[in-house]
Order: sequence, then structure tokens, then C-alpha cells
Amino acid sequence: FNIHNHHCIRKYENGTLQENFFYIHDGTNEVNVLDVKRSFAVFHNFISEEEETNLTNEIEPHVKRLKYEFNHWDDAIHGYRETEKSKWSTKCFPILERVKKISFEDSENLIPHVHILDLSPDGVIKPHIDSIRFCGDTISGLCLLSDAVMRLVKDQENNQVVDVLLPRRALYIMKDDSRYKYTHEILGKESSYFGSLFIKRERRVSVIIRNPP
Ligand code: OGA
Ligand code: MN
Repeated sequence: FNIHNHHCIRKYENGTLQENFFYIHDGTNEVNVLDVKRSFAVFHNFISEEEETNLTNEIEPHVKRLKYEFNHWDDAIHGYRETEKSKWSTKCFPILERVKKISFEDSENLIPHVHILDLSPDGVIKPHIDSIRFCGDTISGLCLLSDAVMRLVKDQENNQVVDVLLPRRALYIMKDDSRYKYTHEILGKESSYFGSLFIKRERRVSVIIRNPP
């Protein structure tokens, strides 16, 4: 299964599928690069500025009373607040439907609540693999409010590294090898580089949809 041949992706007309949003670190084998590229897709401008505003306005009341958590040194995520949301307004519902249709082979069989992760400008997501007990083969994330760099590092082979540029308003789909064989992380503000290009990290909200195991 090649994600770039997914019929939904080929049919998609609004956003463009980006193949050049990968930065390959020196020493990463060609085979691993191909594994990542066929299991990770990024859609530039998947949503419009207006849709981003609608989503943020709808999310804001759910997170604004929560404090960013920096507490636990062993946590995978630092400087974040999060919530789950399963009901959406008629403005935002169609956006989530578009995300589901393009991301999942079976868009009817998903974890019902959408995960909202709000990362402060100082926040960082450390390397981890999402639990295989709670989440299936595909993770789909909408990126709001800030550009960011996601780093994929091969599990148990940490000189195999691919960075992915996730621009604000992009959608990414991580599945199969990228999801199971690589850790993923979001670089913190000091190390937020895509190659030699500094990517300014501001407050970043991600809207993440997962399927069940
Ligand atoms: C997670 C995660 C990535 C993102 O919550 O497990 O990896 O784009 N999030 O916020
Ligand atoms: Mn994760």
C-alpha cells in the first residue's frame, strides 16, 4: 500500500500533496527514506485561513481555562494543554469530514473524539510512538496557528532521521512504517530547524484524528 496512490489522495483537488517537505539527515539509508515517504503525506494549505479561524474559535473556549503543563520530566509532551472533542458546529464539521475522508481507508471506523493538543510557544513533543494498544495504523493531524518541524527517527536505529516541515494549515497523515517503526517529535523553539532554515515556533494547536487498533 502506497499512501501516494490512495484513491482519495489522488482525487483530492483543493490542497496539493507535497513530496518535498522532507529533510533527510546525512547517513539515512535510501530504503528508509522511501519507507517514510510512502507512509507519510503532507498537504499544504489543506484548510483556508477562514477555516483555521473557525476551528480555533471553536476550540478556544475548551482550552482557555486549562493551564499549560510543564510538570513531569518523564512525560512525552511538555508545555501543553489538551482536550477531546466529539461534537462540532456546522461550520467546522465539514472540515473534519474532509480530514477523515482523505486520511482513512475506513472513515466510518474512527476513534469518536478528536484529540486537541495545544502546545505553548515553549512547548515540545519529545520522541515517542503512539500506543499500539489505544490507536490504530493511521494518525491524521491538522496543524493550526504555527509552522513546526516534526522529526521521525527510526526506532532502535537513531542515526536514521527524516524531518518533515509542517506548515500552519497543513494536514499530515502518518501511517504504517512512519507510525510504527519511527518515533515522532515536534522540535522545540530553540532547535526548530528544517535543514538550515529556522522555523519559528509559536503557539501551535493540532487537531488529531486516530483510528482504533
Ligand atoms: C501526539 C502527537 C503530534 C502533533 O499527541 O501523540 O504526536 O502534531 N502529536 O501534535
Ligand atoms: Mn504522537
